[in-house]
Amino acid sequence: MEKTIDEKKQGEQLVMDIQHYPEQGVQHRKDGKKLYIESYGCQMNFSDSEIVASILAGEGFNTTQQLEEADLVLINTCSIREKAEQTVRKRLEKFNAVKRINPAMKVGVLGCMAERLKSKFLEEEKIVDMVVGPDAYKDLPNLVQEIDEGRNAVNVILSKEETYGDVSPVRLNSNGVTAFVSITRGCDNMCTFCVVPFTRGRERSRDPQSILEEVGQLWEKGYREITLLGQNVDSYLWYGGGLKKDFENASGIQKATAVSFAGLLSMTAEAYPKMRIRFSTSNPQDMTLDVIRTMAEYPNICKYIHLPVQSGSDRILRAMNRLHTREEYFRLIDNIREIIPDCAISHDMIAGFPTETEADHQDTLSLMEYVKYDFGFMFAYSERPGTLAARKMEDDVPEEVKKRRLTEIINLQQQHGLFRTQQHLGKTEEVLIEGPSRKSDAHWMGRNTQNTVVVFPKEHYNIGDFVNVKITDCTAATLIGEATGLSDKSLF
Ligand code: SAH
Ligand code: F3S
Repeated sequence: MEKTIDEKKQGEQLVMDIQHYPEQGVQHRKDGKKLYIESYGCQMNFSDSEIVASILAGEGFNTTQQLEEADLVLINTCSIREKAEQTVRKRLEKFNAVKRINPAMKVGVLGCMAERLKSKFLEEEKIVDMVVGPDAYKDLPNLVQEIDEGRNAVNVILSKEETYGDVSPVRLNSNGVTAFVSITRGCDNMCTFCVVPFTRGRERSRDPQSILEEVGQLWEKGYREITLLGQNVDSYLWYGGGLKKDFENASGIQKATAVSFAGLLSMTAEAYPKMRIRFSTSNPQDMTLDVIRTMAEYPNICKYIHLPVQSGSDRILRAMNRLHTREEYFRLIDNIREIIPDCAISHDMIAGFPTETEADHQDTLSLMEYVKYDFGFMFAYSERPGTLAARKMEDDVPEEVKKRRLTEIINLQQQHGLFRTQQHLGKTEEVLIEGPSRKSDAHWMGRNTQNTVVVFPKEHYNIGDFVNVKITDCTAATLIGEATGLSDKSLF
């Protein structure tokens, strides 16, 4: 079975958090137009959908979960693997069926597939009225007007500056407790398998002041945990705006006052000492000791690092253009374990990259054995058009070999997951309650600092409480326990 990030949220109908954002409550307006929006793929896409909903709320749209009653249907798409694109195409077929009953309904494609396929979408998928790339959402009011007037609309221009820093996002399908805050957009890493640098453009960082303001607003609304988001957060660098790659041309003053990721982390942790802070994703080649030390220094920065490695073989790492070796990765892991002994670490892994041999695959398994990751997101290689790997390398590992290697990787991760959850048995850990457990209405679900899911009887506790939970049992991915009282963070 292939694991994806936020699997349970894929394709969920997204609705606004009116409870915490009553000012967004345009659903009370009789003339409110109805927006139906679905998101696929990474956390950044879910975060972008909140920006889109916010921009359209300004145009009088409110969200609906009823596809049939929608005036505008938007699908925020993912191109990372072929399967992700197929899922979207299936949804478009469904929208087409609804459109036949309700021809006034308009359909727009957002995100990475929109960027990758551009106007081809209008030709291939006749039901699509609007195509909008990830840097063009501020143009939505104009684009929506165009389709209202009966024309097709496309904007897939990638930007050097756009970070949506000035858009205060509404929250969609929010638990009212945890939220994403995006800090960088785009990616310059050019991993040879990856379509993201093509669909999301060059890397740029968001003004730290606007990040702090957004975190402050979330705190005021009762949110207690934020995740700073970017394709490669450790590469964050604010020097007054502009592309990361243009930093070398910045002025002396700009360079001297630049804010790094470690700087942003400590600024945020200090400004909101009771807010839990997470971040994702870290690229091993850009993660500094400074960041690890900053994590150790602030109790409100969660002890969890998502540190994708993709392969354990030096030869494959080189072919993937991952700019570190296996040994360098081990040294980074050793440093993390030394500076933050209880830090959880997770990974992304790709099975069956072109030319991968059985020996390379064994290197991957032995790397996993060394780290014993807490979690993992594991994928079979999927060739993406336009990437360097697609242009220069043959997708030569047979499908059944990819599948078998992937299964071996997943099985090993399952063992390591169990090993890691077992280490929590008998301990009492601080958990932030996010909502009811999916399996039992009598239980709360939350996470400890390591990001492991913890389930325990509800008793008199509430969503948003920080609770100490004694861990009594576990599976490979979940801790089970009992609350012993509110933690210090709740008592203020
Ligand atoms: N830096 C990004 C990575 C996004 S892609 C982040 O924020 O997480 C997420 C993961 O998808 C990658 O780490 C990689 O493991 C996987 N992936 C990317 N391209 C892929 C491809 N062509 N085939 C299979 N898996 C891929
Ligand atoms: Fe993709 Fe590598 Fe960037 S996986 S998102 S090119 S860090």
